[in-house]
Amino acid sequence: MEFPKNFTWGAGASSYQIEGAAYDGGKGLSIWDKFCKSPGKIYKAQTGDVACDHYNRFLDDVSLMKEVGLKAYRFSVSWPRVIPNGYGKVNEAGLDFYDRLVDALLAVNIEPWITLYHWELPWQLHLEGGWLNPNISDRFAEYTSVVAKRLSDRVSRWITINEVQVIVGLGYGSGIHAPGLKLSLHEILQAGHHVQLAHGKSVQTLRANAKRPVLIGGAPVGVVSRPNTESPEDIEAARMATFDVVPPESTDPMAMQNGIWNSAWWMDPMFKGEYPENGLEAYREHLPEMSDGDLDIIFQPLDFLGANIYHGRTVKADGNGGYEILNMPDGSPLTTMGWDIVPDILYWGSKYLYERYGKPIVVTENGTATTDFPDENGEVIDSARCSYLKEHLKGISRVAADGVECMGYFHWSIMDNFEWDRGYSQRFGIVYVNYQTQERILKQSAKEYRDVIESNGASLSVSKACEV
Ligand code: FCB
Repeated sequence: MEFPKNFTWGAGASSYQIEGAAYDGGKGLSIWDKFCKSPGKIYKAQTGDVACDHYNRFLDDVSLMKEVGLKAYRFSVSWPRVIPNGYGKVNEAGLDFYDRLVDALLAVNIEPWITLYHWELPWQLHLEGGWLNPNISDRFAEYTSVVAKRLSDRVSRWITINEVQVIVGLGYGSGIHAPGLKLSLHEILQAGHHVQLAHGKSVQTLRANAKRPVLIGGAPVGVVSRPNTESPEDIEAARMATFDVVPPESTDPMAMQNGIWNSAWWMDPMFKGEYPENGLEAYREHLPEMSDGDLDIIFQPLDFLGANIYHGRTVKADGNGGYEILNMPDGSPLTTMGWDIVPDILYWGSKYLYERYGKPIVVTENGTATTDFPDENGEVIDSARCSYLKEHLKGISRVAADGVECMGYFHWSIMDNFEWDRGYSQRFGIVYVNYQTQERILKQSAKEYRDVIESNGASLSVSKACEV
């Protein structure tokens, strides 16, 4: 099993999902603080108020990361912790927190990878129209400059925005995520266009303010497909499906939301400087308003493509130059989120994305939710995650052997955390968190990941499932 030299072995988390301290240290409110308090929105009315209390325990958490042997840690900065209203007055205590976190990571040789936006829109900005307000991209650029000025002397890896599709699809379409809006497809796409502009201006701002050489990428969700067989026809069909954009089936909010789950509409502007033809056609009655020059702003030079890939569809050629999406066979494995487990998706996803966009691939998220609990010896034996992790990593090794530039892999997540509308019901961590006591336990997967990291992937060749 071969991995590139200097491959970045990491794990990730995001601010709202782990920090807690939602009302401490001068932080402003975000759309998630408010949304979690709205009845019926979150599993058992849970909130990220305390979460993993990482805000207070980050030094211990960094020690755990060290124990796992991580080379890199991807975390997000909470916009309202740094700028409580989203613009204007800066909260120095908030910046100090990230400053100390960066120093703690660097002290143990873990490279910080910062995501500037992982869904915590300041509440005040939401009141002013949120992602529908055309000036939000300037607000985001201002925020970027505050963070870059403070941290870019030590941080050289940056991701602008996490999963534009989720921000607008679940936040502005189905209403499952904050701020819980159910808008028209035109409005969803308009908000999405503003997110893209924010990305572009943020890249410009990072480059202008960076105090050391930086590598910058975006992290849309890779909505990818895999071929049913490795026949050239199926491989082409899965490629076509990966970059297809299909019109929504109806104007029902759920259908609208489904209509935006694709890669090309969101990735082409960032990585090619254009909206794809098939998208302009599929969305023709719903297109966002845009100005001349917008695509030039969105299309900034990027150093890598951050792909968040958890699962994928299986596709075969339909015999007429098109593709057919297949149902998974009865009894196929699912995560507790209900997501299909198809390990070669990292192979196919990375391959298709690299072919189309030509950027080195960083898998910025990949992982599984499973039912984990400490056994009678106090150990958490998460065999399903061990196998998920190892089998998915093999896809990266294979695609690297094909010549695809693979820079790194970030397992989601370093620790169990608040899984948005699903609250604490879904455990994604390689570290177990007891939310009552805040005790942490390294799961078996953390130990096996340590072996993988130490051997730069060579331990994957030992084809055992979980070693107990
Ligand atoms: C991704 C999110 C991340 C987490 C995982 C399971 O869509 O970026 O915060 O919720 O899914």
